[in-house]
Amino acid sequence: MTIDDLDTAVAIERASFPRPWTRAMFAEDLSRDDRVWIAAETGGRLCGYAGATWHADEAHIMNLAVESAHRQQGLATALLSELLELLVCRGVHRATLEVREHNDAARRLYESAGFRAVGARPGYYTETGEDAVIMWTDDLAAPGASARLEVLGEHAAQALSDVPANELVLAIESSCDETAAAVMRGGTELLSSVVASQVDFHSRFGGVVPEIASRKHTEAIVAVIDEALTEAGVGFSDLDAIAVTYGPGLVGALVVGLAYAKGLALATGLPLVGVNHLEGHIFANMLADERVAPPLVALVVSGGHTSLVHMPEWGVYRTMGETLDDAAGEAFDKVAKFLGLGYPGGPIISKLAEAGNAAAIDFPRAMMHSGDYSFSLSGLKTSVINHIRHERDAGREVDVPDLAASFQQAVIDVQVSKAVKAVKETGVGTFCLAGGVAANRALRQAMTLAMEANGVLVSVPPFALCTDNAAMIAAAGTHRLRRGDRLDLDAEAVPNLRLGE
Ligand code: KG4
Ligand code: ZN
Repeated sequence: MTIDDLDTAVAIERASFPRPWTRAMFAEDLSRDDRVWIAAETGGRLCGYAGATWHADEAHIMNLAVESAHRQQGLATALLSELLELLVCRGVHRATLEVREHNDAARRLYESAGFRAVGARPGYYTETGEDAVIMWTDDLAAPGASARLEVLGEHAAQALSDVPANELVLAIESSCDETAAAVMRGGTELLSSVVASQVDFHSRFGGVVPEIASRKHTEAIVAVIDEALTEAGVGFSDLDAIAVTYGPGLVGALVVGLAYAKGLALATGLPLVGVNHLEGHIFANMLADERVAPPLVALVVSGGHTSLVHMPEWGVYRTMGETLDDAAGEAFDKVAKFLGLGYPGGPIISKLAEAGNAAAIDFPRAMMHSGDYSFSLSGLKTSVINHIRHERDAGREVDVPDLAASFQQAVIDVQVSKAVKAVKETGVGTFCLAGGVAANRALRQAMTLAMEANGVLVSVPPFALCTDNAAMIAAAGTHRLRRGDRLDLDAEAVPNLRLGE
């Protein structure tokens, strides 16, 4: 909550309470550093607020109000939950407050957060002669944090920020075979982005070898982070936070970036924010195009994932469906490997496909009409491999461009059809293509045509932001930082981390 909110706050006070806070009271309180005041906004306008004072491990909740037009929407619960969470972060365990004896809704709200009536102040509210009930808890926990995210929009989340605007964030990514670091200011201004690819070390094996990945991350990470800081012209002491990918990915690869980030957070005292790698891929779209904002549907297609995700609000993710077996990029990689074409297979197959006929071979479109959002790509990969074997056995030369184009088209057809269905079902007006496979030109084109035909804004990130990088982790990390999300120093890498957890 800021001084700019006070005109509205005073109006809400007057309409809500017989003994309203005045502008001077709010102004004096906001200037003190032993107070926490948070605001809820809708459409950029204040509609509620809550404030507390604290000393050592004990807090006093001083005020909580929601404008009458916005009551019954869960905002009071969300405000209380956020306020308590901020207090818990400051080491507070116990809290007290007074509530009007007959204000049942308020009493229920505080009871749901663990407060109990422990006494009364007779006649405390002199205007009405009502008693104040004193409520108390010595087991402060912030309830309903996830409910809070459902309710609060971006503006409220930003108002809850306990970091400066224009925050300088260092982001680290090491979930697969790219060691990456980036420095970003204010969530959008990219000062540097360094990616050290290990692809040469994996290519001779036709895929990522986890043990090699961990070792190479360990060798590269210090230099990659140094380079990102140097390029940005900043030092550790200039930073406001550290963001790091903590899942999903290869566990031995993730731990390298995470261990570095935790060590740095411990040494500097900077806040540490954990980012989901898939969320990072989605944020590559917001980084590239500021019109992209929830509600939206994203298709994350990479070497490890094929997921259709509904993002109704900032910070809220619902996985609508994902692959039951191989990921889309994995299918490209495996087909290329079988043909002896090299690794990664995606760029090679898509280049070859440009010269081929996509209708030459009728490969299966698995689950295209399954009615749900699951994908299956291992059957397609097997059909391609069987086709190659069959042709070779018959003594015929395989037409590689035709094969590449037909395989690619089978992948694209299913993805486009499910993505369009998801957009229609959720009713969103924005669609994002994300992940390494989003670099595929034919997929970008097919998706753009199909979505535009449905009047949907389509976003495809620039090529450099499709494959793994830390700029996207910085963008997602800054959003999490502003929502108050923090990763503990004893947090572990989560190789199977799901979006929304
Ligand atoms: O996102 P990413 O860099 O790493 C993971 O998170 O997995 O994606 C890498 C994947 C690889 O499987 C690669 O073959 C695929 O993206 N890829 C492509 C193209 N460029 C990269 N797949 C199809 N067409 C492309 N042009
Ligand atoms: Zn990725």
